[in-house]
Amino acid sequence: MTNLPEPKGVAAILNPNACPSVHRSIFSDFALPGRVAVITGGHRGIGLEMAFALAEAGAIVYCVDLPAFPDSDWEAVKQHVDKLSPLSEEIVRGAANKPSSKSKLVYISADVTDQDGTRAVFKHIAETEGRVDVCVACAGILRSAECLEYPGDEFRKLIDINVNGVFFTAQAAARQMVRLGIPGSIILIASMSGSIANRGQNFVAYNTSKSAVLQMARSMACELAPQKIRVNTISPGYILTDMTKAYLDPQPKLHAEWSSQNPMDRLGRPDELRGVVTWLASDASTYCTGSDMIVDGGHRAW
Ligand SMILES: NC(=O)c1ccc[n+]([C@@H]2O[C@H](COP(=O)([O-])OP(=O)(O)OC[C@H]3O[C@@H](n4cnc5c(N)ncnc54)[C@H](O)[C@@H]3O)[C@@H](O)[C@H]2O)c1
Repeated sequence: MTNLPEPKGVAAILNPNACPSVHRSIFSDFALPGRVAVITGGHRGIGLEMAFALAEAGAIVYCVDLPAFPDSDWEAVKQHVDKLSPLSEEIVRGAANKPSSKSKLVYISADVTDQDGTRAVFKHIAETEGRVDVCVACAGILRSAECLEYPGDEFRKLIDINVNGVFFTAQAAARQMVRLGIPGSIILIASMSGSIANRGQNFVAYNTSKSAVLQMARSMACELAPQKIRVNTISPGYILTDMTKAYLDPQPKLHAEWSSQNPMDRLGRPDELRGVVTWLASDASTYCTGSDMIVDGGHRAW
């Protein structure tokens, strides 16, 4: 029974030994005061949006990405995080066992395809902060080529980033969580393309890579559950970012075509993933592991 998280909700109210203070605890479940999160691909797009969400929830967030230095957009988000007021006393009081500390955003340049380098990044963060609670493996690339012509080196390159890089990230995070005895949350960014083929698109390498990420998360979730580490995936549908813009801009009709493929008749925005990543990172999802969260505007319902 020591394996179970602290009772909350109705059980906490009915517990005769409970402290009689009356306060809201639902927002505390989602709060991350004093927790340390690492997000690869956190320089822009979905990764930066998720980094901001976790920082707003109270976390210290490390963004790991390729550029040697962050650009002005990233710096603007960092400055905004620096100005955030601390979480309210009521939220921090109910949040599990972590000291309140100020949110911050930190940038580290690294390539996730380098296994030793990725391990070194997580070791450095664990030694600097004393913990790693959350890992979001978001770094990825999208390429298109017909399956009959797909060049081998291009196929290998995409798999190296989208599969090997995601594994090296999750592995490096899990090693620090196990070493420090932290019941962490690892979130791998997959895609609806891991479960369906995108209509009219030649995405064989990308779709293969995202399918691998789904299965990677299930396998790691089962192996790491005894160490109380949870591993889940988020599968977004079409989200408008620099990645998709680079693909859509030369094909003016494609934006409307992709929109028409879901019942909401639009592409998603990166901020529409804030809730799901915060939920998976936090104690609001303690019984969720080995699962895939589909956020696709209903694309797969059709
Ligand atoms: N945009 C979408 O519609 C969509 C849908 C489903 C899934 N996804 C996934 O979400 C993730 C983020 O996508 P996005 O749209 O924000 O793309 P993006 O291109 O805006 O961001 C991806 C980030 O990953 C970084 N990156 C690439 N290779 C790297 C490496 N080797 N090491 C470290 N960082 C690296 C890039 O520099 C970039 O900052 C990707 O894994 C993508 O496959 C995106």
